[in-house]
Amino acid sequence: MVTTASADFLALEGLSADELRSWIDEAEAMLPFATGARPIASPAPLAGKLVANIFFEDSTRTRCSFEIAAKRLGGDVTNLGASGSSASKGETLLDTARNIEAMGVDAIVVRCAISGGALMLANALDVPVINAGDGRHEHPTQGILDLLTLRRHFEEMHRSGSFAGRTVAIVGDVMNSRVARSATHGLVTLGARVLLVGPPTLVTKDFESLAGAGAGSIEVAHALDPHLGHLDAIMMLRIQLERAAGGAIAADYRSQYGLTEARAARLPERCAILHPGPVNRGVEIDDRVMDDRRLSRILTQVTAGVATRMAVLRRLLAGR
Ligand code: CP
Repeated sequence: MVTTASADFLALEGLSADELRSWIDEAEAMLPFATGARPIASPAPLAGKLVANIFFEDSTRTRCSFEIAAKRLGGDVTNLGASGSSASKGETLLDTARNIEAMGVDAIVVRCAISGGALMLANALDVPVINAGDGRHEHPTQGILDLLTLRRHFEEMHRSGSFAGRTVAIVGDVMNSRVARSATHGLVTLGARVLLVGPPTLVTKDFESLAGAGAGSIEVAHALDPHLGHLDAIMMLRIQLERAAGGAIAADYRSQYGLTEARAARLPERCAILHPGPVNRGVEIDDRVMDDRRLSRILTQVTAGVATRMAVLRRLLAGR
């Protein structure tokens, strides 16, 4: 599945390395504004623009950061969730979006359970559509914020932000993860080696052909321990109980795949620890590992999320 017109932002699959780098550069340029350290110059890029957040699945980070991003850029935001909207009376996602568009909004940010739901809206609407996570498909702004976080970490640790030759493990519920898909497309295109690790029920061998054309590579593994000493970054995924992955949480999930304190101690000194959130503490990652300020980049990812969403909103909306 690829993006439609460049007026939308739907997926990282199909973006070239140069296109990815340009998104990461623009997101990085937004970091001082994302934190509020520097106010946006006047006239604000989104002055007079109204962004609609349609979130038909729960969210903390993505919904709030799109809202903060739009406001930091001088725009306004309206929020709609499944609960409290006419979706609870059976109205479809497409009808909901068409009605919101008819109210004169300038862009729609959508999260939904339907893989391909964002593309469906993009094909039907005139306003730009931004994918904030569609089912098991992609979460492209999460992908850019992960790449930005990793590039800055590599620069800090190795004085080079290059992804070539770096090994990034993505661990856990790969099957159900749009975060893993977007990250894998981005990382492989930029030249990294991606190790997808998890139980055979959640990571199958065919994931090795997920991203075909990139400079990097993908390997599937069902054991984490042999790889710990060779990683430049490790991204722990949330076990998605809402997508029926709960059966995979056997009593020994943590003992085989959890980033426990003992496993974290075996990681290379300069290995970054990422997690997209929300975290099941004590399942995929231990408390003390998650809160380790030396290696955990989990809250850095969240700040990068605001910057990334500012970059996307600005490029799609400013001057439109
Ligand atoms: N990473 C992420 O998508 O988090 P939320 O579900 O809280 O938006």
